[in-house]
Parts: sequence; C-alpha cells; structure tokens
Amino acid sequence: MTRSSAEIRTAFLNYFASKQHQIVQSASLVPGNDATLLFTNAGMVPFKDVFLGAEKRSYTRATSSQRCVRAGGKHNDLENVGYTARHHTFFEMLGNFSFGDYFKQDAINYAWEFLTDVLQLPKEKLLITVYETDDEAFDIWNKEIGVPADRIIRIGDKKGGKKYDSDNFWSMGDTGPCGPCSEIFYDHGEHIWGGPPGSPEEDGDRFIEIWNLVFMQFNRHADGNMEQLPKPSVDTGMGLERISAIMQDVHSNYEIDIFQGLIGAAASLLNCNDMENKSLRVIADHIRSCSFMIADGVMPSNEGRGYVLRRIIRRAIRHGHKLGAKDFFFHKLVAALIEQMGEAYPELVKQQAVVEKMLRIEEEQFGRTLDRGMALLEDIISDLDGDTINGDDVFKLYDTYGFPADLTADIARERALRIDQNGFDVAMGLQRERAQQASQFGTDYNEQLKTDKQTQFKGYTKHEFSSTVVELFKDGESVAELQADEKGVVVLDNTPFYAESGGQVGDTGLLHLDGGIFEVADTVKVGNAFAHHGVARVAVGVNRRVKAEIDVERREKIIKNHTATHILHAALRKVLGEHVTQKGSLVDPDKLRFDFSHFEAVTAEELTQIERMVNSEIRRNLVRETELMQIDEAKEKGAMALFGEKYDDEVRVVTLGDFSTELCGGVHVERTGDIGLFKVTSESGIAAGVRRIEAVTADAALNYIDSQADTLSMIASLVKSDVASTTSKVEQMIARSKQLEKEIGQLKQQLASAASGDLVSQAVDINGVKALITNLDGVESKALRGMVDELKVKMGSGIIMLATANDGKVGLIAGVTKDLTGKVKAGELVNLVAQQVGGKGGGRPDMAQAGGSQPENIPAALALVQPWLAEKLS
Ligand code: ALA
Repeated sequence: MTRSSAEIRTAFLNYFASKQHQIVQSASLVPGNDATLLFTNAGMVPFKDVFLGAEKRSYTRATSSQRCVRAGGKHNDLENVGYTARHHTFFEMLGNFSFGDYFKQDAINYAWEFLTDVLQLPKEKLLITVYETDDEAFDIWNKEIGVPADRIIRIGDKKGGKKYDSDNFWSMGDTGPCGPCSEIFYDHGEHIWGGPPGSPEEDGDRFIEIWNLVFMQFNRHADGNMEQLPKPSVDTGMGLERISAIMQDVHSNYEIDIFQGLIGAAASLLNCNDMENKSLRVIADHIRSCSFMIADGVMPSNEGRGYVLRRIIRRAIRHGHKLGAKDFFFHKLVAALIEQMGEAYPELVKQQAVVEKMLRIEEEQFGRTLDRGMALLEDIISDLDGDTINGDDVFKLYDTYGFPADLTADIARERALRIDQNGFDVAMGLQRERAQQASQFGTDYNEQLKTDKQTQFKGYTKHEFSSTVVELFKDGESVAELQADEKGVVVLDNTPFYAESGGQVGDTGLLHLDGGIFEVADTVKVGNAFAHHGVARVAVGVNRRVKAEIDVERREKIIKNHTATHILHAALRKVLGEHVTQKGSLVDPDKLRFDFSHFEAVTAEELTQIERMVNSEIRRNLVRETELMQIDEAKEKGAMALFGEKYDDEVRVVTLGDFSTELCGGVHVERTGDIGLFKVTSESGIAAGVRRIEAVTADAALNYIDSQADTLSMIASLVKSDVASTTSKVEQMIARSKQLEKEIGQLKQQLASAASGDLVSQAVDINGVKALITNLDGVESKALRGMVDELKVKMGSGIIMLATANDGKVGLIAGVTKDLTGKVKAGELVNLVAQQVGGKGGGRPDMAQAGGSQPENIPAALALVQPWLAEKLS
C-alpha cells in the first residue's frame, strides 16, 4: 500500500484523536519564551512547561505534527544532510503526548497498534530497543505485545560516558524534561548494509529508527541533578519522512513524494539530470529549513538563530554552484515547496513573498564573494601539506568571504580533507575579544555597582514620591554619606524615577532634602534597585528622607515618544506586513528611533501611508490601558512579544484601543491624542534586512515642520521667488548653471587656443629646432593636452615643454613633433623637469605628462631644459 506523506500525517493525528488526544497545531520553529533552545527540535518542545508541571492545559493527552529544525545546539544534523538516507535540517515529527495521564503501557500499545494495524507494517520487520534497566518496558513488549525477546535489545549508557548518556535516554537539551526511551526500528532488508542497534554496524542504513517513545520522568538541572517530574508522562516522536519512506516502499527519505517534488524542481532549475546527486538532496533539504525559519521570523544575521539560517542558506547556494548554477536559484524553490507543503502549513503560504525576497537578498550578497572565496580556497588547498586546512585560513575565508566554517569543512570533506576547527575557534575568540575591547567606550557604571536593595517603582502614576535613601555609592563603592558637590549614586526604597529599560531612557530630576538637593542626571537599574546618578548639592546620608521629583516636562516628552513607538510598530505591520518585528528601540525626550526587520527601503508612498496611519490613530484619541496578566493570556490577546525574549510569568500589557497590544514595562500617555502630532524625520538601512525609522512627536514635530518651512522660505528668498514657485525657480537655476558651465568650457577652449597662438611666438631656436619652454601658471592641467596638440600643428616641427601650478600641485607636459622624436623623447624631457618638482611622469615619445608637488621649483626646473635640449640636438 502506498500512502502519501499528507495521508500519513492525517492518519496519525486521527488515530490519536480517536484515543482522546487533542490535535494541536505545529508551533513556531522559534521556541517561545525559551533561551535554552535555538530551535524547536522535537514535538515535545511546545509542551515543555506542561511536562514540568509549570503550565496547565485543558487536556492531558495531545497529538501533533510538529515542524522541527536540528541544526546547531544539542541535536544537530546539519553536517550529515545529503550524505545519509535519513538526516535533515528540517523534518516533521509526529507525536503523541501524555501529561501525567497514561504511561509506558498505553504508549507502547498505541504505537504498536498504529504501526501494525493502521499502517499494516509487517510485525517481523520491527525491532525494539529499551533502556538497559527498563524491565517494565521490556516486559510490556515481550509479554503483552508478543515481540520475541531476541528482537528486544537493551541499550545501556555509552562507554566512558556519564550516567544516562545513552541512545535510549532522551533529553531535549542540557536541561529540561527527560527520561528513558524505547525505540522502534524498521528493517529495510538484507540488501542494505547495516546492523541492528547496539551492534558495531548500527550506523548503516539497514535498521532505521522510526519511532521513539520517551517515558518522561525527570527534569535535568544545570548542575546535573535529576529531579522527579510531578507525574510520569509520555513524549513520542516519529519522523514523518522516515515512515513515509517505508510506506512508499523506498529506502531513502529523499525518494519520498515531498522530496521528489523538491528535487525535481531543483534539478530543472539547475539543469541537472542526475536525480541521485547529493547536492540536489542538500538543496531540497535546505529549502525546507530556510523557508520555514524565515516564515517563523528568523532573519539571516551573524549570530544566534540568524547565523544558523545564514549558514544553511550559504551551504545550499554553494551546492547549487557545484552543479553549475549561473543565476540566483535558491529563492525560486519556495514555490515548489509551497506546492508540497502549503496545504499543511498555511503560514508558509502567507509569507511566500517575504521568504523569497529574503533568500534572494542572501543569494545576491553571498554571490558577490563566493567566486573569490572559492578561488582563495582552491589556492589554499593546492598549497596544502598534509590533510588539514589551518584555522587561520578557515577564519580568513569566514571573515573576508562569509564562508561559515562548516561550509569550508563541507568542501574539505569532498576532497577528503579536514579543517582545524580548534585553530578556527581560537581565531574567532581573538576577534570577539577585539570587538569587545573596541566597544568598551562608554562606561557601564552598572558593572561596578552591586546592591541587594530593592526599589519600588511608583512612577506609573506619580511624579513625586517621599522616600528613604537606602544606599549610596561614590566611585563605585558603597558609602555612608555623599558630601556637597560630590558625584554619586543614590538608591531609594521607592521612586517615581523610571530606570532605563525597554528602550525608554531613564528619568532626570531632583531629590529634595532638608537644606538642599541632589540633582539626578540619569536613572538605571542595578539588580532590583534603581540607581539615581547625579551630583549632591548638600550632604546626603543613608536613611535620610527625600522627596523625589522627576523632570515632568522631560518625562512627558518621553512618554509621547514611547506611545508613538507602539502605534508606529503596529502601523508598520499593517502597511509592510507581519514580518515586521522590533529589532531595537530608543525613546528619549527628543525623538524616537525604531529598528525593525524589513528587506528593502520603505518607499516614500509607504512612509506617507504609515505616517498618516499613526496620525489618524492619534486623532482617534484611543484610551491607553495597562494590565498585568499571565504570559499565556497576553499571547492569546495577540500581544506582540519580542522573539527570544524571556518574560516573567506575569507581564504588563499595554493596549491602545483596538490598534496595538504589546508587552511593555514602560510609561505611556493616557490617550493617544496627547501625542498631538507624529512626523518621520528619516528612514534608513542599518544592516541587511533591518531598517531604522526616526521620528518626532508633539512640539518637536511642530518644531521640525517649522524649521523645514523656515528653510524653504529662506531658499525662496535667496532665489528671489515665493514659496509656491521655489521648485520651478530652483529647477530653472540648475538648468541655467548647467548651460553656463557648458559655455565656460567652450570659452576656456577658445582662450587656450588663442593663448597657444601667442605662445608660438615665444618659441626659441636651439640648434635650428623651435623649442617652446614656458610656465603657464594657473592654467588647468586638464587643458594642457589640448594646447600641446594645437601648438604642434601651429609650429609644424618643434619641441614643447609646458608647466602649470594649481592649488599647490604641478602639472607638466612635454610634446615633440614626430620628425624630432628620434633625437628627443617627450618622456625623458618631462621626467627631467618632474624630478625637480617632486614628481615623476611618463608617456609616449611624442607626448608625455607628469605631476609634481613643489610649484616653487618650476622656474629652476624649466631653466634646465634649454641646455639639456642643446646637448641632445647638437
Ligand atoms: N522527543 C523525542 C525525540 O525527539 C520523542 O526523539
């Protein structure tokens, strides 16, 4: 029976739904709220907190087909892709999960029933492994299911490894839920090389693991401690591609329907007839991971997830190159991918244009250096002694040509060579250090301060607050007192001062004490305390009472810019698309600056549309609301959260009417109307795929508009026009000045020609030859050539040596009519002079030019010419 991948996916979900499992949609490849994982690498990742008991769901059984990426981090298959029948950077994991509901017995029974009853796989083709000491699982397989004991293999810990370091003990990462597992293997038959699990030949492709049943029992902590989970649970995973290969009666995953479609599309784009070609497989694999990553919001970059993405894209491009790709091809495969997977993943279809553009930009960027990098690598390889490319060379390829080390390793492997990974890591480390040193400009005063004090922030509602000094710092050291006119830091128990965070700058203001003040120039967080940096104007001691008062006018400006930033963010997503996410933000009293992901310049029309949308939301005078809620609740409300950012369980959600919902700890206006006016002042690119908008609000926006208007009136009055006709007036002036330039050029030529007529009369006779040696001082060097040509015609036969000085630079030219070049060479003549004025020249025997830097030596230099010529012509 042949079954398409899509049918198998549906059959799996439906089977488990019939066993009371909730069907759950595939989550994003970017794990939410988890800094420990690069990518979703298994079906259980979205349920991690449910296993740990930290999150409750309305169901205790779930099933999903989860998109996964295994490239970078604990589970990394990148290097194997293309070389084995079953490794992928991207794959779909079918899974069923029990959160403290059923355990080993049901998990095993369900898996067996699905494989042998629903899919009707022959029982004798299946092989089982269990963790060495898991007698319970062994017995279920043997006694209940009836698998003969010799087909159940016990697998222990790896030799020399730590406890639980075993193929039959699964963990998501270095920390998190884990447990012993039982795996089901399929025997592809004797004609394929390989041995059963645990045998020396296990790496062969004959016995392939298709399903892993994990009996989740522990939560592994960073210190290695294994804590029992609140309730034993089940996590299973079956690779859709592997089970499809079996059902479609093929051995390699690359022969299944989804991959054949992609390989076919790549082959026709690249004119390749060999459908078994490894490079085609690599490309077909990589287009899946790259497209889904971009659709899930990852942007190519030089760090973290973005760098993994970039490495995969570059590896694919390089394999295209190997097949002779002449043109950008990779982005064109997105359409073929959508044909294969669009129905199951509508989010991919929605993002098609974004994915294609992003990939194309990367192709263009890498295309520019690929050839040069490859040429360098070929040189390195041909000069190689031994079989290892040294780390510095690998680093140079990375640093100059953007070759990720694993790309170089990939190429090396094709030539049976290796790279010196350690040497590369050292070179990278040094570069990182240099970069860090280079960025240690501004002092980070936080670094020096350490306090265990806590400050309550009162500034959401109050501008003034009476509080107590709980700690003081001077020069980074905790002190009991600050004297008058000393700089230092005051920590209060309560404060209305906002400490810089989330892009919003810290507040400034005054701390009033009996008899004087402390001037606050900035407020920053130190642990849970707020540090007020500034200058004491009167002695301040710990335990003193103060009235803290922020600079209200400044704060009002800041919060207008902050709320405007939220409106802008939402407007950008509406106008440019959902791919827009925040990449950076700065909100101060003068302006707002917002960096966001977008692959091309925002056009003038789009910018106008965005600006108008923001202003219209301001005029709608939306009410700003803030609420504290659980993170899940916030996400359900559609609150925008930053990718990869870790939020506390309880978050603050800022809502502006129906227009914007964001997680934010900052301070905002009460109604959007308070902002008054929003005006964009610039739009620019700051990195590949990242744009920056700067804007102003309220009075600053008016000032900006006023100053633009002032500039315009000034221009109008300078060009003696009214404002309305300035453009046409300036256009006229530009046209006129072009016309004048042209006329001046013509006049100059005429003048030069007239001057050359005069010059001829200055020629002297040297042994019967006419020689013109003169300093034209001030004539443009550019004009000399034309003059020499004319002089030659006018003189008929003769030698010309002209010099000129302009802006401290010397221009020299020598001309010799053809009849005389046997005796005198223009090149020698011009050099004779050039040497005296600090220059050097060259040219043909009849015409040569030179420059120089010592105009003051021109007269003496020219004086040498006559005697020199006299000798040559004697
Ligand atoms: N989480 C298990 C795996 O990835 C099922 O193999």
